Amino acid sequence: MKQKTVYVCQVCGASFPKWLGKCSSCGEWNSLVEEAVEVTKAGTTKKPSTTSKKATPISRVDINPINRIKTGISELDEVTGGGIVPGSLVLLGGEPGIGKSTILLQTALAISATGKRVLYSSGEESAAQVKLRGERLDNLNDNLLILAENNVDDIILVAKQEEVDILIVDSIQTVYTEECTSTTGSVSQVRNCGGILMNYAKGNNVAVILVGHVTKEGTLAGPRVLEHLVDTVLYFEGERHGALRLLRSIKNRFGSTNEIGVFEMASNGLISKPNPSGIFLSERKGEVAGSAIGCAMQGTRPLLLEIQALTSPTSFGNPRRLGTGIEYNRLLMIIAVLEKKLGLKLGMQDIYVSIAGGIRVDDPALDLPIAAAIVSAYKNEPLEKDIVLAGEIGLTGEIRKSPHSDRRIKEAAKFGFNKILLPYSTTKETGDLQIIYATNLLRSLTATGLL
Ligand code: TYD
Ligand code: MG
Repeated sequence: MKQKTVYVCQVCGASFPKWLGKCSSCGEWNSLVEEAVEVTKAGTTKKPSTTSKKATPISRVDINPINRIKTGISELDEVTGGGIVPGSLVLLGGEPGIGKSTILLQTALAISATGKRVLYSSGEESAAQVKLRGERLDNLNDNLLILAENNVDDIILVAKQEEVDILIVDSIQTVYTEECTSTTGSVSQVRNCGGILMNYAKGNNVAVILVGHVTKEGTLAGPRVLEHLVDTVLYFEGERHGALRLLRSIKNRFGSTNEIGVFEMASNGLISKPNPSGIFLSERKGEVAGSAIGCAMQGTRPLLLEIQALTSPTSFGNPRRLGTGIEYNRLLMIIAVLEKKLGLKLGMQDIYVSIAGGIRVDDPALDLPIAAAIVSAYKNEPLEKDIVLAGEIGLTGEIRKSPHSDRRIKEAAKFGFNKILLPYSTTKETGDLQIIYATNLLRSLTATGLL
């Protein structure tokens, strides 16, 4: 075995034999760090020509029903698809201070209160600091064990001794293994520790939850490698200054992805908000210009959201376009279609669009309410108060089909709206409100009374 060093990009994990100023894989500047790797000389281990391992015909594969561990936190159960699966590895990412440690400690307390044994290992805080936090939360009980440790091998030894059902490691960037010589938090440490924890999880049927910090760009620091390794990736996000927090599943081998859970940060921890549409609409003020209500699907869940827009004449140079919570390029596309198909003169207007409540949504069905909010702001005319819009706008100004019309209709009716405007569909849905189907942008906006 011989020691060699390579340069590893701390953002995407690509490795290079020489140092480069810019990672040629992900384009990040100054992200390469020298790390040691151990190489075995080619040909020193001889591969056997036969194996005792057997593959199984698909019809004879056994399926064991999954006995999920209910967390007792309704929104977390919703996002994970019904609870945490024993033997699985879960990664929880989020910005510092957003509430990752709080929600995991709350989860740990809720699960341990049902008699399961949970080990919460913190590499960032002392046991006393964790306890102080725990005293603000409910369910304080002694099935929850606290450990302040950074050595991942020691953490696993303790977990084995205590025969725990769930292990929480806060955070993966603060643990290390002596098997790897790189510094704590580097890509190879994170990858190695992740691998060791996965072997422990699978080998002992213990659910392991890892906390991962995110970089300023909003991706998990370094461990994109880790996203491939783990079974479930959850992101915790929200506005730091607001109380609202969203838990989003990005990947889930045991449930559907893109599910969201909504929480409110209170003085005694995070409170589940099972009826999120109401929260996002609560600050809405009657009929004002530049506001439209859209219905976006987040996973299997419909969410009513207020889109706000502001237009003002550009006073200098190029017009500004700013989208908060929506994709910038989509905003440019919608503005271009509005100019071309409706003949609106938006070329010398600054345009700002945001989703109220600080939530980030990528459902293209929000195109139509975004367009309506912009037109309403530009004409300084409010939309009808009780209408909900949903539909993706195509480049030729057509409204493209969006799935789950039935759920959007139900959600709008539930919150007392009288009308919903949806993409044209041959299967006519019914509901407790007037349903308007539209095939193109012009007709849609005419139906809202704006044109
Ligand atoms: P924390 O869980 O430490 O964030 P992370 O682990 O993601 O870095 O969250 C810290 C914030 O949460 C801190 O600003 C205090 C606040 N907080 C509450 O508002 N209520 C509570 O009950 C607790 C425990 C924390
Ligand atoms: Mg923390």
